[in-house]
Amino acid sequence: MKLFVEKDYDAMSKLAANMVKDEIEKNPSTILGLATGSTPEGMYKELIRLYKEEGLDFSKITTFNLDEYVGIDEEHPNSYHYFMKNQLFDHVNIDMKNTFVPDGKAENPEEFCKQYDKLIEEKGGIDLQILGIGANGHIAFNEPDEELNVGTSIVNLTESTIEANSRFFDSIDEVPKTAMSMGIGSIMKAKKIILMANGKNKAEAIKELLKADKITTKLPASLLLLHHDVTVIVDEEAYNG
Ligand code: GLP
Repeated sequence: MKLFVEKDYDAMSKLAANMVKDEIEKNPSTILGLATGSTPEGMYKELIRLYKEEGLDFSKITTFNLDEYVGIDEEHPNSYHYFMKNQLFDHVNIDMKNTFVPDGKAENPEEFCKQYDKLIEEKGGIDLQILGIGANGHIAFNEPDEELNVGTSIVNLTESTIEANSRFFDSIDEVPKTAMSMGIGSIMKAKKIILMANGKNKAEAIKELLKADKITTKLPASLLLLHHDVTVIVDEEAYNG
């Protein structure tokens, strides 16, 4: 695991954006795995700037998002579909046909999940996966548990995640209790992974992750210790607490 401790959120975001830029410049048809949440917002902002001011070309890339709430319309302002359009897709020259986000309203969710993993494979697999981390160590919506899913699946959210994500909703009752999420196996198949974390509320999870010499499903991010190309980018607050 490579570690970069950046001064602040801005520096963390810029470093991650530059790594994405390098990847796209090396391979214009790169396949990106994308995350939602507050953590990557600054990175997306910087990617938009790189597109507008430095001509970074998104026209040939393909993207797969990690997760989506179940039961929420694509147009819902808290859906991850909406987030991606709002934070990135609407502002760069990406071909929307090449953007994929799990469908939280799929008629047959189990079948959809299978097809999602299949599609990733058919496209050649994810070249670079961006991850945030939950305060409880979850990645995507793979919550700490006795067992973790290998492939994309429907998952129950923990009380702590529902509470953490309620800041985006009018009330905690509106936060969906289930989501569709790439599994640990879907994530681990990516050729390269960048995990970002900022702020004091991530310090405990980051401390646990960085000191871990054992993997445990109780800290889903620890599974990343098995991957050969993971870069962790944190700001000083997430590093020092
Ligand atoms: C969310 C998402 C994750 C994200 C994490 C942290 O619930 N499912 O993909 O990485 O929790 O979110 P944030 O970046 O808002 O702190």
